[in-house]
Amino acid sequence: MIPINIFLVVVLGVFVTAISHEDRARDIVSKLTRQEKLSIVHGYGQLPYIGQTKAIKRLNITALRMLDGPQGIADYVNKVTCFPCVLTVASSWDIHLMRTFGEALGQEQRLKGSNVHLGPDVNIARVPENGRNYESFGEDPFLTSNLAAQYIKGVQSQGVMATVKHWALNNQETNRSLCSSNVDERTQWEIYYPAFKSAVDAEVASCMCAYNKVNQTYSCENDNLLNRDLKQKMGFKGFVVSDWIATHSTSKSVNSGLDMEQPGGVYLDYSLDSAINENLVKESRLDDMCSRILYSMSLVGLLDHPERTGDLLTDATSEEHNKLSRTLSEQGIILLKNEKNLLPLNPSVATKIAVIGFDGHDIPDVAGEGSGHVVPPYVITPLQGIKSRISNNSTVVTYTNGQFVPLAVNQAKNANVAIVFVSQNTAEGWDRSTVLPRNQDDLVRSIVAVQPNTIVVAHVPGAIQMPWVDQIPAILFSFFPGQESGNSVSSVLFGDVNPSGKLPITLSPINPLKTKLQYPGVDNQVEYSEKLLVGYRYYDALGLGVTFPFGHGISYTKFEYANLEVYASQCGGHVSVMVDIKNVGDREGTETPQLYIEFPPEAGEPPLVLRGFKKVTIKPGQVYKVEFDRLEEIQHLSIWNTTLSDYEIIRGAFGVHVGSSSRDIRLKGGFINQL
Ligand SMILES: *[C@@H]1O[C@H](CO)[C@@H](O)[C@H](O)[C@H]1NC(C)=O
Ligand SMILES: *[C@@H]1O[C@H](CO)[C@@H](O)[C@H](O)[C@H]1NC(C)=O
Ligand SMILES: *[C@@H]1O[C@H](CO)[C@@H](O)[C@H](O)[C@H]1NC(C)=O
Ligand SMILES: *[C@@H]1O[C@H](CO)[C@@H](O)[C@H](O)[C@H]1NC(C)=O
Ligand SMILES: *[C@@H]1O[C@H](CO)[C@@H](O)[C@H](O)[C@H]1NC(C)=O
Ligand SMILES: *[C@@H]1O[C@H](CO)[C@@H](O)[C@H](O)[C@H]1NC(C)=O
Repeated sequence: MIPINIFLVVVLGVFVTAISHEDRARDIVSKLTRQEKLSIVHGYGQLPYIGQTKAIKRLNITALRMLDGPQGIADYVNKVTCFPCVLTVASSWDIHLMRTFGEALGQEQRLKGSNVHLGPDVNIARVPENGRNYESFGEDPFLTSNLAAQYIKGVQSQGVMATVKHWALNNQETNRSLCSSNVDERTQWEIYYPAFKSAVDAEVASCMCAYNKVNQTYSCENDNLLNRDLKQKMGFKGFVVSDWIATHSTSKSVNSGLDMEQPGGVYLDYSLDSAINENLVKESRLDDMCSRILYSMSLVGLLDHPERTGDLLTDATSEEHNKLSRTLSEQGIILLKNEKNLLPLNPSVATKIAVIGFDGHDIPDVAGEGSGHVVPPYVITPLQGIKSRISNNSTVVTYTNGQFVPLAVNQAKNANVAIVFVSQNTAEGWDRSTVLPRNQDDLVRSIVAVQPNTIVVAHVPGAIQMPWVDQIPAILFSFFPGQESGNSVSSVLFGDVNPSGKLPITLSPINPLKTKLQYPGVDNQVEYSEKLLVGYRYYDALGLGVTFPFGHGISYTKFEYANLEVYASQCGGHVSVMVDIKNVGDREGTETPQLYIEFPPEAGEPPLVLRGFKKVTIKPGQVYKVEFDRLEEIQHLSIWNTTLSDYEIIRGAFGVHVGSSSRDIRLKGGFINQL
């Protein structure tokens, strides 16, 4: 129970701020001419920024200047930090680190003279092949919601708007501008909408509507999507901006809730003027569009500090951000497997190391391609990272890119450990195969055939097939690691950093989408007929084995789970779960215990759904009491009820599963929800 006086203060606080930004926006709109209003609801091309609006100098209203993310400042701008991709940072499961990451993105963007960040991408990884999975937070709505909210708060703390994208159901790149995502209401609200709802609750300034259609109607002219679900049901107060060239009409779009066209003004300039004259669009709707834009400007402080500090040539990099890039990468590395404690490497034992693979040195894939591509100011390759880490030792390191397999085999045979860097890149606009390109699977098999101490390090955009998984004793996964690739991986290889990343996706050779209708669609109709069975929910429901489960990631130490306590207040409204985690190894380590809920069977939910995670660092021999609280929050114990058209809290017997991954449940309990 929240004491009543605190409750009032909270309500009053929100109320006062909301009124002031909205009133301020309305007041400015009342002073604008029709032409001035029209000048801020569309873009003016892709130069110098990837998107921009006009300033209204007479009223000191600054122009909006937009740049892409989310791996750093994208759009081929120079002198920016190349951070690891969001999927890597998400693998840290660290909300504090995600906030710091958001702050750094906002800061670099501001230094570049930009005030709108085109991220985060919170689309759920439904399709393993999706070319943009590296830009988002993985397959789980709860994890994505919690991490994305921190990212947004971080960006906006720097006086830069965040843009949550791509609204909605933009889960594949194949025919993305032609296909329709056909989905039922419950699935929308339980799988694909929660992260957007969380962004709205975090006061995200802007929301980008997607290329694809939803239920046959383009996202950017979809009344159900924009007006009903986003603005009315979620209460979004900012503005909706079209994805680049994703606007298809004037009055239909505007009346359906689109507030800004980018990057040009094909539909929302003269045509909008005419549509208003012809009474196809009300002038009050144009006022609403402008009020929403100005509301968001007021929210992040752009009306108070209209002057920009830098421009696109400013050097936004810093020693601090180089360090942060390394930390983010180190914290996002996932140790999938470590037989016979092959890792961490001891330079006194591993006196001959064979580094193999293109990503070891020649062309490291440190960033994804497409609008999210970041130009790294420098790249520490794995070979450089490893060599500099053991510079004081007599260890010999050899390198070959693996293209000529006999040479690689020979080097591996003559070493006492081989590290094979496998890689794949992707770009926006295309999906990819989950089979590694360039015969890398054969390379891995050839190496391990002669060198049992083979470590595989994967730099990939998402899930891959690992046909060699059983033969390889140690595997590290790090998606796109950013400019500090080599330093971060050698920190983990040599044990300076004890790995703690956890998979935000499931790795399995079985594709969860079984039919062409589900993916990539037939005649541009994509049926979301798997409904709630996305990611681990699918494998669990069908009882299928996986290569590595969602939430998996091990450490150089071991953790024991004990003393599960579940507390549910009799009058309803409060559920909390506590568990003791003990570090039973001999080095400090970090664990992320995960809480999965099992709904009463009549709720019709997948077997387990993530509802809590806490990242804790524990010294050897010590115990940390982890508490998962706030479980009573409306979405946590709810399902979407289509009759009520709202979340409905489920009563009855819930199961509580706490573990180190979705398939490594250590303790079970339960409670009766009587609310
Ligand atoms: C615009 O800013 C200038 C300088 O800060 C100030 O003098 C002027 O009064 C402002 N004008 C309006 C309309 O706010
Ligand atoms: C999509 O269609 C389903 C019914 O088939 C409906 O419940 C849902 O609200 C629709 N979503 C949108 C955004 O139109
Ligand atoms: C190598 O040795 C020097 C001098 O002892 C020390 O300053 C440096 O930190 C060492 N480097 C590494 C990578 O351990
Ligand atoms: C290797 O380097 C480490 C420091 O990184 C040092 O502690 C160790 O003694 C060195 N071993 C040899 C054999 O040079
Ligand atoms: C992609 O679009 C083209 C052109 O409309 C169409 O021929 C093709 O069938 C579509 N592919 C899918 C998977 O729907
Ligand atoms: C949804 O709510 C209605 C009205 O309260 C109720 O009758 C129905 O049983 C609920 N549906 C489910 C699936 O719980």
